[in-house]
Amino acid sequence: MKILVTGGLGFIGSHTVVELQNEGFEVVIIDDCSNASEKVLEGINAITGKMPLYEKIDLKDKEKVSNFFRRHNDVEGVIHFAASKAVGESVEKPLLYYENNIATLVYILKELSKKKKSSFIFSSSCTVYGQADEMPITEDAPVKPAESPYGNTKQMGEEIIRDTCLVTPNLNAIALRYFNPMGAHPSAEIGELPIGVPQNLVPFITQTGIGMRKELSVFGDDYPTEDGTCIRDYIYVVDLAKAHVQALKRVLEGNNPKNYEVFNLGTGKGSSVLEVIQSFERVSGEKLNYKIVNRRSGDIVSAYADTTKANEVLGWKAQFTLDEAMKSAWDWERKIRG
Ligand code: WQD
Repeated sequence: MKILVTGGLGFIGSHTVVELQNEGFEVVIIDDCSNASEKVLEGINAITGKMPLYEKIDLKDKEKVSNFFRRHNDVEGVIHFAASKAVGESVEKPLLYYENNIATLVYILKELSKKKKSSFIFSSSCTVYGQADEMPITEDAPVKPAESPYGNTKQMGEEIIRDTCLVTPNLNAIALRYFNPMGAHPSAEIGELPIGVPQNLVPFITQTGIGMRKELSVFGDDYPTEDGTCIRDYIYVVDLAKAHVQALKRVLEGNNPKNYEVFNLGTGKGSSVLEVIQSFERVSGEKLNYKIVNRRSGDIVSAYADTTKANEVLGWKAQFTLDEAMKSAWDWERKIRG
């Protein structure tokens, strides 16, 4: 069975391609390589022994999207990762984000709506909750006004899919709200490849550990948490990838009561910034250079998932600990920079 993975050369996309191939799916990747390298294909092949089909297509070109679906009319499911995802950049360039994250989604959904039956998995984010009122966060927690155009594109994306599914019974969709993905494949053949200065905590930590960065700036230790630093739910990227396979199987089987569902994907455990630093120091055996600086605007205090729904309905639960995920991130960093 052929599955299209858009953004399949990216961090979560490439790890999901590996898990799909492990489950016997045939994968075709579309990626425009604006934020990924075609070398990732070699990494995937090195892990599974199967080179996925790949086409470099700009999904903003609706003719090209339409042409792709005509040529690959045997695609039975789509996992849609392709999107711009830098929160700060989205504030500076909102129209780039609305075009790249929304127009492309509409073009794909239009193609899927033409098919007798189709399955769609959408890469969403816990960012839709903003600062949730209660922890852990369930899927029923209210979606709050987005703090950035990036977050807004995730909220709008979910609404577009929901509205489309309402009038397209042959379309079965699931939105997956990721908490904080981290780590790399245990083979160290694929992993996170941030371009430029990493925005996210874990790659900044490992780049500091390897000596690429002088020190980590901890954005505030005056939050109302136990150690004063923000709390997040750091989920191992391989756990996250496996959840996509479970979600895809659910929509392919079509036994979901409604044809649009949402799931939180996290470990269910919150970790503070200082606890993540301590995890790095445990697994690397090295002290990390860091300093406490002012808060980063837009940061929320705490976010960690209630994973009951994914556990019970998808039959999925995160298996790896923060230290195991951190070890994989550190091994990857040493491999690509060592
Ligand atoms: C985590 C914590 C920072 C860097 C973002 C996106 C979200 C999702 C995941 C795509 C925060 C602190 C960070 C640093 C620090 N992306 N930090 N120093 O902001 O929770 O979520 O990535 O879907 O949409 O918003 O992740 O890794 O940037 O920050 O102290 O150099 O680490 O303040 O508390 P975040 P993050």
